Amino acid sequence: MNTKLFSEVDNYISNLLAVEDEILKSILASINENGIPSISITPSQGKFLQVLMAACNAKNVLELGTLGGYSTIWMARALPNNGKIITVDNNAKHTELARQNIAYAKLTSKVEFRTGKALDILHSMVNEKKEPFDFIFIDADKPPYTEYFQCALKLSRSGTIIVCDNVIREGGILDENSEDENVKGVQRFNKYLSENSNVAATIIQSVGAKGFDGMAVAVVR
Ligand code: SAH
Ligand code: DHB
Ligand code: MG
Repeated sequence: MNTKLFSEVDNYISNLLAVEDEILKSILASINENGIPSISITPSQGKFLQVLMAACNAKNVLELGTLGGYSTIWMARALPNNGKIITVDNNAKHTELARQNIAYAKLTSKVEFRTGKALDILHSMVNEKKEPFDFIFIDADKPPYTEYFQCALKLSRSGTIIVCDNVIREGGILDENSEDENVKGVQRFNKYLSENSNVAATIIQSVGAKGFDGMAVAVVR
């Protein structure tokens, strides 16, 4: 695989259409400096989320997996003035750094942080009959992706777009005997997605700055 060429083309796309400003660059640096894993989305993926948000006129967004708030910032920047994003993470250290980063990006008024297990928070939102989200980005731990998606559907309306990161795992999903819990989680999810007639869905595989992976995109019917 010509990974160098893929990275160069990803940079070409980013430099044209998904330019990182000083704020986004310094937030990536803060994630590094704090010893937090460098697994944020790439600029071109951030732009992809923004384009999908524009397609569904997203005002209310839910994110599972905040990390340092990098993807949160891409999405918050695509919100209208009265828009809101709720972002969930079970690691208080990650939420704290993200809170600082979102403040630095002057987006505090648009972002609500929830610290806790994604499944617990999803269940409480379902129980309190929260109004449906327009756009949902699932990017927390991979083994319960199917359950996250099932809850996301309960928090959706017709037209809601749900995006799930990391569903290809360098092609690891092709190995039917994989013992990797992350691979098994997304294999189970991808199968579930293929059998769910309540959504129009596909998977976009991606190569570039972050290696080989893919995002599932589903539109609720
Ligand atoms: N969306 C981020 C990256 C998220 S990385 C970005 O692109 O910028 C995955 C995050 O999920 C980590 O911060 C991790 O702490 C969080 N996470 C892992 N298991 C979780 C769980 N059960 N509930 C909520 N968050 C979880
Ligand atoms: C991992 C998690 C992610 O959300 C990601 O985008 C890349 C890697 C991981 O846990 O390995
Ligand atoms: Mg991810």
